[in-house]
Amino acid sequence: METKYSVIGLGKLGASMAAAIAKRGFNVIGVDVNQQVVDLVNAGHAPVQETNLEETIAANAERIRATLSHREAILSSDVSFIIVPTPNDERGAFTLQYAAWAFREIGRALSAKQGYHLVVLTSTVLPGSMRYGLLPILEKESGKVAGKDFGLCYSPEFIALGSVIQNFLNPDFTLVGEIDDRSGSLLEACYAKIMENNPPCKRMSLENAELTKISVNTFVTTKITFANMLADICERIPGGDIDIVTDALGCDQRIGHKYLKGAIGYGGPCFPRDNVALSFISRTIGSKAELAEVTDRTNRAIPHKIIQFLSPMIRPGATVAVLGLAYKPDSHVVEESQGIYLADALIKAGVRVVAYDPLAGENARWELRGKALILNSVADCLEQAEVVLVTTPDVVFKKLTAADFKYKGPRPVTVVDFWRILDKKLANQPHIRYIPIGRSIDDAANAARLNELWGNTVTFVE
Ligand SMILES: NC(=O)c1ccc[n+]([C@@H]2O[C@H](COP(=O)([O-])OP(=O)(O)OC[C@H]3O[C@@H](n4cnc5c(N)ncnc54)[C@H](O)[C@@H]3O)[C@@H](O)[C@H]2O)c1
Repeated sequence: METKYSVIGLGKLGASMAAAIAKRGFNVIGVDVNQQVVDLVNAGHAPVQETNLEETIAANAERIRATLSHREAILSSDVSFIIVPTPNDERGAFTLQYAAWAFREIGRALSAKQGYHLVVLTSTVLPGSMRYGLLPILEKESGKVAGKDFGLCYSPEFIALGSVIQNFLNPDFTLVGEIDDRSGSLLEACYAKIMENNPPCKRMSLENAELTKISVNTFVTTKITFANMLADICERIPGGDIDIVTDALGCDQRIGHKYLKGAIGYGGPCFPRDNVALSFISRTIGSKAELAEVTDRTNRAIPHKIIQFLSPMIRPGATVAVLGLAYKPDSHVVEESQGIYLADALIKAGVRVVAYDPLAGENARWELRGKALILNSVADCLEQAEVVLVTTPDVVFKKLTAADFKYKGPRPVTVVDFWRILDKKLANQPHIRYIPIGRSIDDAANAARLNELWGNTVTFVE
């Protein structure tokens, strides 16, 4: 008999996981507390926006159904993945409220179930949450014992929005935190059948898995912040060019090229909150995650730093265009996006802001609540703006040429290119002042500074 799965929480991650598991030929029953989500899935539609989700659900509709009932799902499946929200609370910790609710319902269902069932939490949680926060709820409500009567694992996914299905089915590794060997072995065997790329499975205690999950994002954000630091230094040395430096740096296999770009800060629903949560847990248990704190602080200071850098270039009453409002290209998600933070900081500094994003315009309009004018095209922005900030490496922005910058004013239009995606020839246009972040734009001044440091100061050893 093939294993039957349930997925509890049909959001951005859960709906995609359910669809991916069905795509691999397994029956999946999804649970959500939202009737509309359940209805959409049962009608063969995606309940959230995600690449290929609509097509995958439609193509595998006979293997996916959804319900409001946790009990129904537990009784008609063998393995359950729980993927409910775990937002940060006021301390910076990931709250367990939604997971606790789901675990209570699952526990009650388990009390009525004959035979073994494996419960797997996929939501991001902090060390100790499983064993000391959620496991007692399951045992109390079911009247059963974890590791004896039912299995329990913590197994988060490493996915990026926009490629959730592809990432879920093709991970670099699977992470399995287990209450006992039987639970971990069963989940490893399930993954061996579900995943497309035969990834290594890393099995460990619940607590080590909880720490590993949050370490991945905090490490990656530290790397991004390191590259941003280098970009800042490159701007201050003659001929400095962050792309030349990181291209070489990434060849060192200990470092690698990924997330080593040097641009604007990171954002989105996961990266920023994971540093805050790691800082919280380490503080609470008597350690101090200073690196995570510095990374977070440095990243949050970026909009302020940009405003300081721009202020000599912005006349009072000037219009500034922010191109890119999602936290990354090809996304409608504006959560903690640098474009939004930058627009907000500019507005607070008294600047008129116009903005455009190919996909995230509607969400940005809501987020900025009428404070910035979200326009329908890049051209509309460029017509009015005397300062243009390109905050995401979106393909629409990459295509811009000198002729597209149409603003006619007393001074050249300032174009700040955070990802260095625009044609270098923009630097030679009389009507444009092109500022690629991470490259020296004033070699003479930069050379003078270094000459002052080293010229005529070097002495010979006596
Ligand atoms: N979105 C990401 O990029 C990402 C990446 C890695 C990990 N995660 C983690 O995955 C978890 C879920 O994230 P998401 O982005 O899919 O959230 P989401 O908000 O998109 O979806 C959560 C879904 O769970 C449902 N839900 C809430 N309580 C429930 C309950 N008791 N029973 C059944 N359904 C319930 C909600 O109605 C919603 O549909 C979070 O812990 C998040 O940190 C998310």
